[in-house]
Amino acid sequence: MTDYRAAVMGCGRMARGHMQAYKELGIPIVAGADISEDALQAFAEETGAEGLFTDYRRMLAEVKPDLVSVVTHDALHCEMVVAAAEAGIRGIVCEKPMAMDLAEADEMLAACRASGSRLTISHQRYYMPQYARARELIADGAIGSVVSAEASLKAGCLMTDGTHTIHMLLALLGEPEVDHLLGQVDGHEGYEYYGHRCENAGIAFLAFTNQVRASMVWGWMAREAAREGGIRRQQSLDPSWSDERHRYHHFIIHGDEGRLEVYGDVFKITDIESTPAVRIFRGSEIEDIEIEWPAPVSAIGLEIKDLMETIETGAPHPLDGENGRKITEAMIGIYESARRRSIVKFPVEARDNPFLAMCETGDFPPQGDETGRHVAPNPRERWRVRRES
Ligand SMILES: NC(=O)c1ccc[n+]([C@@H]2O[C@H](COP(=O)([O-])OP(=O)(O)OC[C@H]3O[C@@H](n4cnc5c(N)ncnc54)[C@H](O)[C@@H]3O)[C@@H](O)[C@H]2O)c1
Repeated sequence: MTDYRAAVMGCGRMARGHMQAYKELGIPIVAGADISEDALQAFAEETGAEGLFTDYRRMLAEVKPDLVSVVTHDALHCEMVVAAAEAGIRGIVCEKPMAMDLAEADEMLAACRASGSRLTISHQRYYMPQYARARELIADGAIGSVVSAEASLKAGCLMTDGTHTIHMLLALLGEPEVDHLLGQVDGHEGYEYYGHRCENAGIAFLAFTNQVRASMVWGWMAREAAREGGIRRQQSLDPSWSDERHRYHHFIIHGDEGRLEVYGDVFKITDIESTPAVRIFRGSEIEDIEIEWPAPVSAIGLEIKDLMETIETGAPHPLDGENGRKITEAMIGIYESARRRSIVKFPVEARDNPFLAMCETGDFPPQGDETGRHVAPNPRERWRVRRES
């Protein structure tokens, strides 16, 4: 392995995961860029990095690191990846979502192709032991031939969390190609995160070219009904939801000889002591699958390790830019289906982000408090907003 020097652009919360990963791999972090002096100060204390920059372009030009992590808010991913590629950075680790739309994703891929930079998108759940084991079991025929799948996500919207859900769904199914899909989103709350509007919930049905079909439910539709001030909020629309077992993500993969369930992310050992992470059902037989926990190297560490292998040998990377584009296309396809109110056949032609375009044209009522953050109206208010819109 050759010697690498790493840098981080955007030194906030998620940068900690990247800093930890470089540390695990013994790769020195030589520089950081952030517009916040406080963030840079904390970063310097944690990493010992001496190169501190408020202008990331200056950092790229002056430090010329081998590896760069892009860990800023979503709308900056494209310009930062393009700048890193143009600066000749060999390996770029970009946080999810890859891009705001397909036009940006294509610009990022073109810049990396031109410079020879290797790009990965941090859908790092790919490397978490329970998802890796579930993929292996499905690929080895543990449930026979895959027929269909159900995915649900407790939190967020497609761009913040659902990008992971789409990625995991496709990875568990062996990366099938989407043929067409139908989707709808609920965006009436004016929720904003990572610098852009987000929907509160959504639902989609995907048909793949190999005849496998899948459904996805996310946001409040996939949670147990919560109570606000003693009043019950909307009831979950996910028919398989169980708050006892499901954590963050839940996948059910149906095969012709059984079904495999993945009960979401594992954050601590007690998670898998109470409920297994992976379970297989064959008739009345139930098999709990053991997973290695904790994993010796973090998921982002494994992503970066594979990136170095890609740089050195040209081996394909499972989370490469093309894979990131595929996830982006599914996400934009679902938003486009909601905009057109019809099925969307792949490839997706929309070059904009249909959800954000609909927010701008007022299809979803503008809301948000003075900070522009999530406003959760009480249930009566929620319905009043809906009636007036
Ligand atoms: N893969 C995952 O599991 C995962 C989890 C959480 C967040 N994320 C992603 O990570 C990204 C960052 O999220 P976060 O929670 O760390 O956000 P954050 O707000 O904590 O950090 C972002 C940092 O970027 C800095 N920044 C803003 N503009 C900049 C600029 N022009 N140049 C340099 N720095 C700039 C901010 O000052 C801040 O310190 C988001 O895209 C998010 O979707 C991924």
